[in-house]
Amino acid sequence: MKKRVLSGVQPSGNLHIGNYLGALKNWVEIQYDYESIFCIVDLHAITVYQKPEELRNNIRTLAALFLACGVDPKHSAVVVQSTVKQHAELAWLLTCVTPVGWLERMTQYKAKAALQETIGDGILQYPVLMAADILLYQAHVVPVGDDQAQHLELTRDIAQRFNSLYGETFVMPETKLPAVGARIMGLDEPDKKMSKSATGAGHAVALLDPPEVIRKKIMRATTDSNPAVDFAALGAGVRNLLTIYQAFAGCTDEQIRSRFEGMRYGDLKKQVAEIVVESLAPIQQRYREITASPEYLDAVLEESAARVRPVAEATVALVKDRMGVYSRR
Ligand code: TYM
Repeated sequence: MKKRVLSGVQPSGNLHIGNYLGALKNWVEIQYDYESIFCIVDLHAITVYQKPEELRNNIRTLAALFLACGVDPKHSAVVVQSTVKQHAELAWLLTCVTPVGWLERMTQYKAKAALQETIGDGILQYPVLMAADILLYQAHVVPVGDDQAQHLELTRDIAQRFNSLYGETFVMPETKLPAVGARIMGLDEPDKKMSKSATGAGHAVALLDPPEVIRKKIMRATTDSNPAVDFAALGAGVRNLLTIYQAFAGCTDEQIRSRFEGMRYGDLKKQVAEIVVESLAPIQQRYREITASPEYLDAVLEESAARVRPVAEATVALVKDRMGVYSRR
């Protein structure tokens, strides 16, 4: 039997090249080696307030982008998290074996909590719901960007704790980071991770940005006071541009060095902008085709949920049984 792969993205803003290089590109490359499930995690998105109409649109846009990036719905399930109710049900069951201290230590929780006066309980519980997404399908492999590695460690801790309290139940999921592009930085602030929620106009290249916008954002990217690429002293901004080029082009460190050593920053940026524009063009074209038929998207989402539901039901039944929660004799 094939092993299972699972990953997810929040429908909470514009998908950017960090999400693509850190996660989606990798999903598409490995999808046929596994039984694959890719989720649009709308229940995660509402841990911070979302305008309902925007959220509804973002869910559809994200589903269409998964397909446009190359997720093959004939092979891989594209699941909206809230349509398989066992995600939420398993999250509660796992909450009951998760110490609060583990959740309070999460970097993303601390960062979000620091920005707010009162913190929704959902923000604290966020990683338990993520653990539920993964453990619900007994996923072996979880391809994500670097920022999710800590949540994956917590998932394994929760699984281990459950297994030791109630007997072997969950598969231990493995984190799979891409070799290049696991952490793409903001173009305007190369010391910060590129993020969907950042507001700066030149921060991120969105997958649906038109070519002239992509060029403008990359030409304005922050570099440093050197005039040209010097591999002995790479600043964070230049390193980030080289990583973006390398991840899209799929070339080696050696090829990057020989192509760009000594190149002036203006020329480097032009080459980076062109490879991003070229790589996103077919994705944007497929996106337009997919969104031209909304019924097709609904059919994919419904068929995917129906396909994975039996696995979700079986896991929740097993977990409830292990815990002694009521079931009919
Ligand atoms: P999210 O929606 O923030 O991001 C989706 C994916 O994109 C990766 N990513 C990046 N990779 C490289 N550079 C960046 N700057 C960058 N920013 C984001 C993320 O690592 C992620 O792989 N909690 C998750 C969603 C989730 C999930 C799951 C993931 C919910 N349940 C189960 C895997 C398995 C999140 O907020 O991702």
